[in-house]
Amino acid sequence: MAEAGTELRVKKIRDGTVIDHIKAGYGPAVLRILGVTKDFDKVLTMAMNVPSSRTGRKDIVKVEGRELARSELNKISLITPDATVNIIRDYEVRKKVRVSLPKRIQGIVRCINPNCVTNAGEPVEPTFDVVSRDPIRLRCTYCGKFLEEKEIMDQF
Ligand code: CTP
Ligand code: ZN
Repeated sequence: MAEAGTELRVKKIRDGTVIDHIKAGYGPAVLRILGVTKDFDKVLTMAMNVPSSRTGRKDIVKVEGRELARSELNKISLITPDATVNIIRDYEVRKKVRVSLPKRIQGIVRCINPNCVTNAGEPVEPTFDVVSRDPIRLRCTYCGKFLEEKEIMDQF
């Protein structure tokens, strides 16, 4: 069911992607992940701190005429693990997926330890175990270094 008040703030879209139930305050980080800069040419709307029955407040990002790449979904799952991604076609929600945070993260973020083997120019893909989901905390499987949310966000 549509949450009270939301529809007055942000119109329904015809075709594209709605990223819903973004943790309040994390909408701008989602925009960075989508590569939204002054050259971005799709119609995009963002709402912040919208009342939500599930979490109290949430952010929403709607991008018209564009579906998201797997790599973008993976990054979004790191910063807001309960977001839902709705694919809209002809005004209807055709597909709804909860982003999913795997137990092991591969090739999405770099290790911040300069001495880590993954930073030594070797063909080793950075790999992390998810130690905590929300707030996010990762542990490098090679050197054991922990990455906290800030260090992850700084890479997006
Ligand atoms: N939406 C949209 N344009 C459409 C259809 C839906 O922008 N043509 C948005 C809605 O505003 C909502 C999200 O897509 O933010 C998901 O829509 P829907 O599944 O209809 O809403 P809910 O049932 O509230 O979703 P959920 O159960 O995931 O909270
Ligand atoms: Zn490391």
